[in-house]
Amino acid sequence: MQLSANASRVTQEVASSRVGLDEIAALAKRRGFIFQSSEIYGGIGGFWDYGPLGAVLKRNVRDAWWREIVTLRDDVVPFDSSIVMHPLTWKASGHIDVFADRMVDCRNCKHRFRADHLASLEKCPDCGMAGTLTQPRPFNLMLKTFVGPMEDSSAVAYLRPETAQGIFVNFKNIYQSARKKPPFGIAQVGKSFRNEITPGNFTFRSREFEQMELEYFVPHDGQDMACFRAWVEARKAWYSKYGVRPERVRFYELSPEERPHYAQACVDVEYEFPWGWGELESIAHRGTYDLDAHIKLSGKDLTFFDEASKSKYVPILIEASAGLDRTTLVMLVDACEQETIIDEESGKESKRTVLRFHPQIAPVQIGVFPLARNKADLVERAQTVERELRPYFRSQYDEGNVGQLYRRQDEIGTPFCIMIDYQTLADGTLTVRDRDSMKQDRVSQDQLHAFLTERTRPPT
Ligand code: GAP
Repeated sequence: MQLSANASRVTQEVASSRVGLDEIAALAKRRGFIFQSSEIYGGIGGFWDYGPLGAVLKRNVRDAWWREIVTLRDDVVPFDSSIVMHPLTWKASGHIDVFADRMVDCRNCKHRFRADHLASLEKCPDCGMAGTLTQPRPFNLMLKTFVGPMEDSSAVAYLRPETAQGIFVNFKNIYQSARKKPPFGIAQVGKSFRNEITPGNFTFRSREFEQMELEYFVPHDGQDMACFRAWVEARKAWYSKYGVRPERVRFYELSPEERPHYAQACVDVEYEFPWGWGELESIAHRGTYDLDAHIKLSGKDLTFFDEASKSKYVPILIEASAGLDRTTLVMLVDACEQETIIDEESGKESKRTVLRFHPQIAPVQIGVFPLARNKADLVERAQTVERELRPYFRSQYDEGNVGQLYRRQDEIGTPFCIMIDYQTLADGTLTVRDRDSMKQDRVSQDQLHAFLTERTRPPT
């Protein structure tokens, strides 16, 4: 591509530093990524709303997962099940009986804790008083509702705590209608609900959240553990392709004592958040546990019938279950940096906050501005350029003080900004500023589309 480069870099980065969670939450609110749910009534713990930029950010994360897990594969089919399911689903899955955390209350300050988050039961970590904590007692995490007009025990139903069960109970419907045989997978993205005892760390632990779950069914041919390992590697590659810093991601292999009794292997994908390591995704070899449980309770045949051998079997399940809200939070936290920069000409020091999103993840990919908002010909040209980009890119027109425009676009993570100036009117070239290097290239308008396509395409 022929570029006439005007590569003078007017600023020089001195240092960049990690941003704390409170500052990220403040930025997320200020710029329209994430708001507290029902804020005007004081909020409600564990529920969040995604603003104009956050809604797109979250959708981009989901699309990046979907592209990798469904679109680019011929062995995974998509699925979308209801949130409220027959209550026996949760009996079979074990959620009614054992999906509980142990809860502790402080009799003095009335604060509530998850027992496994406390170092000891001797004194309250919040008010510091000794001997005020209750004994731990189990608390079921499923959110209950009633279906139909009667609010009695026969009408009790649950908001699903995971999307996976919708896949398991439909296993036969799906493999027969999609004409799939193991090894093959079923993928679903959707809302899940858990009545967490202590929601917190921004959106990390919420009561309403979305999961991106892949359930991959394999035959009993001795390849199941290799398949599990392959999925761990595939998920590792996905995080790295979308720019998540590898030094902040680890793949923690659960020991036999740590994993559920039915799981033969489990790897938690963890990210180093500002408060420490936290789970993003759980990849598990679940054997035949889930389908067996539904076969037993429903009395229905969910086995796979293999035409070739004329035999039936319950396939082995490999699960990769990621949180969409947590992955979105990781994209935000990982992208966010504060830089101290020096203007090479004046020597003046300034700070900028920048979100270094991957171009596929960035809510806005291209900002377009006129050099001056009171010059009708510049404004008109900038608006035309932006309108022409819009069908192909997530673009945005803005106008105002140039320094402030760049600052705002850096803060929302826009990878490229196009400036329309007098030279544009004279020779048709425009400047394209790169968010990360702050370097500006002069690109001719007929090459602009190819220039941007090259730099924003999905990773391979
Ligand atoms: N079907 C398996 C399953 O649900 P999980 O480890 O309980 O496994 C999978 O959940 C992922 O769902 C977690 O790794 C996390 O990303 C997300 N998740 C779970 N609870 C969450 C919560 N309270 N808030 C936000 N995300 C949550």
